[in-house]
Amino acid sequence: MDRSRVAEVFPELTSIDDQSLREGVADAWTTAAGDAGVEDLRTVPWLPPTMAELGIEDEPLVEHVRDVTAGSLALAEAVLTRRDAPLSVDTVVAGALVHDVSKLYEFNGMDRTAVGDLLGHPYYGVHVVSRAGLPVELAHVVLSHTRRTAVKPATLEAEIVRRADEAAAAAIRATAVEDLREA
Ligand SMILES: [Fe+2]
Repeated sequence: MDRSRVAEVFPELTSIDDQSLREGVADAWTTAAGDAGVEDLRTVPWLPPTMAELGIEDEPLVEHVRDVTAGSLALAEAVLTRRDAPLSVDTVVAGALVHDVSKLYEFNGMDRTAVGDLLGHPYYGVHVVSRAGLPVELAHVVLSHTRRTAVKPATLEAEIVRRADEAAAAAIRATAVEDLREA
């Protein structure tokens, strides 16, 4: 898979102004897909154990990542409408696009791999984005986007991606339960 295929799957990529960020995001997905032997990113499931538990059969990771990117961008734009906040929209979009890239290493189809089992989500993502030449601010967005690590968002960009991810994940869970406290 080359960079252009990543832009086909994630059209939001082209909205990143900073060329090194844009290429780094594309490289992270390209490398991850190559390492995982994934030909088409659209075939990768969102979160196998949760999908099995909730009886959700078809939920592509790509759709979730696009939801998170759209939600993050909307939040960033809303914040910037009335406030001169210390916020890079490029970092928000790039962070949203790579926040779950480690899932390609954590699962093989619906099965958990040694990376997923021994490292958990999303520690390996830090390695993936760093190897792709992305800055530490992007690694921080990845590491702090979930309660599965002890690292909390230190930046507004990381906070936005975390909240957008929570909302997007809740939107998936809400298709399976009436009360989100049960999911
Ligand atoms: Fe996510």
